[in-house]
Amino acid sequence: MRQTITVFKGDGIGPEITDAVIRVMDAAGAELDYEIYNVGEAEYEAHGELIPKAAFESMERNKVLLKSPITTPVGKGFRSLNVFLRKKYDLYANIRPARSNHAVKTPFQDVDIVIFRENTEDLYVGVEEKIDENTVHATKLITRRASERIIRDAFEYARAHGRKKVTCVHKANILKISDGLFRDIFYEIREAYPEIAADDKIVDNVCMQMVMNPQQFDVMVMPNLYGDMLSDLASGLIGGLGLLPSSNLGEEFAMFEAVHGSAPDIAGKGIANPTALLWSACMMLEHLGQMECAAKIRRSVDTVLEEGAFNTPDIGGNATTAEYVEEIIKRL
Ligand code: NAI
Ligand code: MG
Repeated sequence: MRQTITVFKGDGIGPEITDAVIRVMDAAGAELDYEIYNVGEAEYEAHGELIPKAAFESMERNKVLLKSPITTPVGKGFRSLNVFLRKKYDLYANIRPARSNHAVKTPFQDVDIVIFRENTEDLYVGVEEKIDENTVHATKLITRRASERIIRDAFEYARAHGRKKVTCVHKANILKISDGLFRDIFYEIREAYPEIAADDKIVDNVCMQMVMNPQQFDVMVMPNLYGDMLSDLASGLIGGLGLLPSSNLGEEFAMFEAVHGSAPDIAGKGIANPTALLWSACMMLEHLGQMECAAKIRRSVDTVLEEGAFNTPDIGGNATTAEYVEEIIKRL
């Protein structure tokens, strides 16, 4: 069944990588129709709005958004559009898979970790109060509702993707009540997934183990603060930003994007690396149940990256975006 998605083209390299990704999805036989909108700084300059009303309406109709990076205009009082979109659409689960690729040399081989970061609470509720000149109080919020939904998502993902283990990361030895609740809920939810191994680890220990032996980790789920830190740590294990996709999922809406920004320094030169957005698109296809199509694209990208002859300059090659994409399409 064909599905319609909303696409935000964004700024800088956004339009180039969006076009590349749509070409690959079409060539791979994705059952998709697109509603494509210009959003971001250029749109703001042209029409006075970062995201036009029609683009929001499309998102609200289709529920699924493929978003390319947006330049945050400096000095005009704008908050991050990403934070805005996460709040507006209650995109509570930030999922960042970090998988080693032989095209990129790092000291860590065969890393394949998927982090589920709770995106709406913990210390990030932003409630701080000054008790007196020398004392400040910040709120860490953990609720059953938010914990259950992110933990259940982690197990559902593990089941859907044939993953073997889910690890709960916490600091319940010190934060006995708050992180204790998160960990207790983890073990309640896991009852429904007997085929998946489950364990829990304290966050400081996890930091050490991710560097010493990252291959032991599979799916990981954690409150907001630990997820922010450990997902950056995980991106370092696989060689950095250029290859990192993400999804932001809510109960009703889903948004898929590369982790990197609009790369104004290389915009318009035809050398942007579309891999992170391509992998984000694969996550989107999987979310929509188009598993075959996603797998086909993943295999083809892996092959081209590993052969290396058509890689873009940011990962040590000298191919253009167009040449790289041609080669991926040939290998589908
Ligand atoms: P950036 O990620 O855009 O660029 C950092 C460096 O990585 C640059 O040298 C760039 O050329 C390179 N790079 C990034 N993506 C690449 C790709 N796909 N292929 C090849 N090279 C790539 O970060 P920067 O420069 O700090 O931010 C630029 C703008 O992007 C800012 O306005 C920032 O606010 C915005 N931004 C937007 C995000 C989003 O919409 N999700 C996320 C991060 C930044
Ligand atoms: Mg962060």
